[in-house]
Amino acid sequence: MPKPKVFVTRLIPDVGLELIRADCDIDVWPERLPPSPEILRERVHNCDGLVSLLTDKIDAALLTAAPRLRVVSNFAVGFNNVDVAAATERNIPVGNTPGVLTEATADIAVTLLLAAARRLCESSTDAKEGRWLTWEPRGWLGADLVGRTIGIVGMGRIGHAVAKRLHFGWGMKVLYTARNLKPEIDMELNAQSVSFETLLAESDFVSVHADLNATTNGMFGSRQFAQMKPTAVFVNTARGPHVDQVALAQALRTGTIFAAGIDVTDPEPLPADHELYQLPNCVIAPHIASATPDTRNAMATLCAANLLAGVRGERLPHCVNPTVYSSGSSD
Ligand code: GLV
Repeated sequence: MPKPKVFVTRLIPDVGLELIRADCDIDVWPERLPPSPEILRERVHNCDGLVSLLTDKIDAALLTAAPRLRVVSNFAVGFNNVDVAAATERNIPVGNTPGVLTEATADIAVTLLLAAARRLCESSTDAKEGRWLTWEPRGWLGADLVGRTIGIVGMGRIGHAVAKRLHFGWGMKVLYTARNLKPEIDMELNAQSVSFETLLAESDFVSVHADLNATTNGMFGSRQFAQMKPTAVFVNTARGPHVDQVALAQALRTGTIFAAGIDVTDPEPLPADHELYQLPNCVIAPHIASATPDTRNAMATLCAANLLAGVRGERLPHCVNPTVYSSGSSD
């Protein structure tokens, strides 16, 4: 029997490629930049399985061009790059990699929060560029963390991991929004589920961890920044389109909020001449939240497990559209 054919759109860690290679006829895109939509369509045409990245657009046209496709395994926890409805219509399960990147992502959220609050990038740049004149009693004053309030927008796994770090590490009061009530978290962290408006008005730090979907797209605009404290620090490690970046730049420029730390932008990469780079109170990382060897290896292993289950016609360990299975239960 011929081995299933699989296209992998980038060099994911070897541990994942080896698992796939053992059972499949694998074609790996070797370039640093993603394949163009035309090349992707051409390469996936005869494939049974596809490993995609968050930079690959997996839309209805692509799925139609791949009539044999039995699984899309996304090398990410987020899956807004995949038209899940179109995949479901074609009975194609879509896999993602939840759980394994929770801690690394929470670490970056806290790193950005601290860096923005304590003006780390701005003061470091000043030092490198000759503006460190002396020890200044009034220089580079930032925001304190202890005893302040963190507002978590989207209390899923990553939001919870961030809240734990800030509550147990810095004694922060935790407010959050979530699709469902979380009585265990309320108990563990003395956390409080509140309305989005209350969270914006009462938090000293606001950290975004919601999925990107039609409801959350653009959820941070000028109105929301205006509702936040002028001392507030805004952190986004979720997805760039949650935020209206023109409004964010304006809020940072005019002192509507104190600072921001973002790991995600729209588009990615953010063009080098973008205004946000010019603002000293904006810390920008190039989407590195899951970038540790252990985390990326774990993502590759899980991504391979989803892929292999899909090409074998078995249920994916982590499927975002479980309605493709007759039993219909979620992971
Ligand atoms: C990264 O952003 C991911 O969704 O895994």
